[in-house]
Amino acid sequence: MTDTGRVDALLAELTLDEKLRLVRGRSDPSGHATGYLPGVDRLGVPPLGLVDGPLGVRDREATAFPATLALGAAWDPGLARRAGRALAVETRTRGHDVVLAPGLNVVRVPTCGRNFEYLSEDPRLTATVGAAVVEGIEGAGVAATAKHFVANNQERRRDKIDAVVGERALREIYLPGFRAAVDAGASAVMTAYNRVNGPYMSEHRELIEGVLRDEWGFDGVVVSDWWGTHDAGAAAEGGLDLEMPGASPLDRLAPHSRALRAMLRLRLSDRLGVDPPLSWHLFDRLVADDGQPDPYPYDFFGDRLQRAVVDGIVQESTLDRKVRHVLGLYERLGLLGGGRPDSPAVDWETHHELAREIARRGTVLLETGGLLPLEGNESLAAVGPNADEAKVGGGGSSEVTPTRTVSPVAGLRERAPRVTFERGVRRVASPSMYDPPGSGLRRRLAPKPDFDAAVDAAAAADVAVVVVQDGATEGEDRDSMALPGDQDSLVDAVADANRRTVVVCRTSGPVEMPWIDDVAAVVQTWYPGQADGAALADVLYGADPGGRLPVTFGRRFADYPVGDDERRYPGVHEHVHYDEGVFVGYRGFDRDGVAPLFPFGHGRSYAEFGYENLTVERGGERDDGTALDASVIVENRADRPGREVVQAYVEPPPAPGTVIRPERELAGFATVELDGGERRRVSLSLPRGPLTRYDERDGWTVDPGEYVVTAGRSSRDRRARESVTVD
Ligand code: GLC
Repeated sequence: MTDTGRVDALLAELTLDEKLRLVRGRSDPSGHATGYLPGVDRLGVPPLGLVDGPLGVRDREATAFPATLALGAAWDPGLARRAGRALAVETRTRGHDVVLAPGLNVVRVPTCGRNFEYLSEDPRLTATVGAAVVEGIEGAGVAATAKHFVANNQERRRDKIDAVVGERALREIYLPGFRAAVDAGASAVMTAYNRVNGPYMSEHRELIEGVLRDEWGFDGVVVSDWWGTHDAGAAAEGGLDLEMPGASPLDRLAPHSRALRAMLRLRLSDRLGVDPPLSWHLFDRLVADDGQPDPYPYDFFGDRLQRAVVDGIVQESTLDRKVRHVLGLYERLGLLGGGRPDSPAVDWETHHELAREIARRGTVLLETGGLLPLEGNESLAAVGPNADEAKVGGGGSSEVTPTRTVSPVAGLRERAPRVTFERGVRRVASPSMYDPPGSGLRRRLAPKPDFDAAVDAAAAADVAVVVVQDGATEGEDRDSMALPGDQDSLVDAVADANRRTVVVCRTSGPVEMPWIDDVAAVVQTWYPGQADGAALADVLYGADPGGRLPVTFGRRFADYPVGDDERRYPGVHEHVHYDEGVFVGYRGFDRDGVAPLFPFGHGRSYAEFGYENLTVERGGERDDGTALDASVIVENRADRPGREVVQAYVEPPPAPGTVIRPERELAGFATVELDGGERRRVSLSLPRGPLTRYDERDGWTVDPGEYVVTAGRSSRDRRARESVTVD
């Protein structure tokens, strides 16, 4: 029986109640899944498990992979595909069918609390690497969920804010990552909490039905973010297929409490007609972070949708379309023919080594200062408030319980003859959804570390390694770009005591570096995951990481295109205005002539690369959408192997009228590893995208004129240029 045949046959058998059971989540009786559908046992439709998240499986122990931003910093689709596959295998091993990953929102605000869960400020890097993650996940028989569709670029008021975004910025910046994920075969798309130009995304008919389905041909499942639905009829007509979690937040606690179960059975709020329960409204207003959704009511696709269908407000055919998408997902996963795909055994050590490889490859050498790589005979002083812990991830739904961890101190002690360790300043809080009550107080009551001992240790060692970090979390944005606590003072004091100081930044995105001119080297490792210290030691002792910045590091928040106007961030009166348009990240720095601290695409190497003989030809309108074929000879002029990310940017001709285009846009890239002295011609197929701009009247438009293609090491370190005329 064909896929659709089996789905249609099932649909014809389902009662209205059974159809409603397939469009609204429930709590997983086992307590393991993040989202759960009980299925329809009568017709052999099994339960379906959905589980977070982008950094690893949030269910019991699992491999804590590095932050998604580290994967973006590796600029390597092959590595991203492997990461996706490993995530999928662990999802299946834990008995789930859908993984709520990858996060594909663009980094628009440098302090957004979830930047560590996203890939880049650039749509092409996001699309290329994000599509590879999806291919890895789907290729392993698990459903990928592209999230959060769309313009969820801040955590401040994320559940209420209206993102006022122009069509051109949506098309050129915020939608491409999702388009690429759909084209790569993502089975699900999760709608964001926020509004876009008015409607909530969970009921955004124009973007769900108009763009996602009609324009892009997406026939998978559109699932809400958790408690991100607001109106049964609007969501039903707007194209939402599946409401999650569909259950009260108390349900998740109920398995552990008879009293709670009894109270829930009473459904006092319904009986008293107080919905949402007043208590929750108070909690949401007075206690919950401003970026947490209000979970009441939580069952729009329950009684409310049932009444809407029975009363003819929502056609049953509309419900049938949703059920068809959900059953289609079951079919894609091979879950309708009875039985379930087997759960592969995971080689946890192999996955740990993959986490180490991703952390290594995502590491960016911001400055090496003649100090790195280390020889191996130096005594080290490891300094930093959390240097004895791996920075596994950030706070929120992406949290993972690692199978094991390697801290920076442990990793360095594997390689150096002598490593002393001093915190220097108070530990930096790593916010967690699972923080036991009072943990914050315990942290504050902990004895104050000895600052002077850290400085003395640095002075007594050959090299000082200062590990600093921030503490980002879902649900709120960082309150500034500065490192939390007294870490900047610690770096200053250590650098004064020992000029051979390397700073290791374990941060969720760009941070201010007031000490940048006083230290020898700076290494950006993002949130490196469970293999943190092992990857750090690999890089400090000579493995050329190949990481390049997927986001611009500005000197201060005000330098960013969103930085100097509260309309643009965090918004005013629940509206955030994307007035910068397409000038996000380096596009904005270029337009405004602002010098970044480190530009988009930046990353030093232990080797040294030369570029020559760039050629560019019209690629013709091939079916892979390639518009230009470029190639350039890259030479490793050092006597040691190195990894280079060859980056091609396109500088378009002036557009007609008042339209302003970015000075240059990333058009393609290739990651190559070259031995010392090796020369190689590197080919780059540049898709049509960067030649085009989105015109609100004429759609995608290629302006005639001269297009300059540059190849080089970053958006501001361009080594070769060639022009091609488009008529
Ligand atoms: C969260 C997040 C989403 C996550 C979901 C389930 O609020 O926004 O990324 O997958 O809820 O935990």
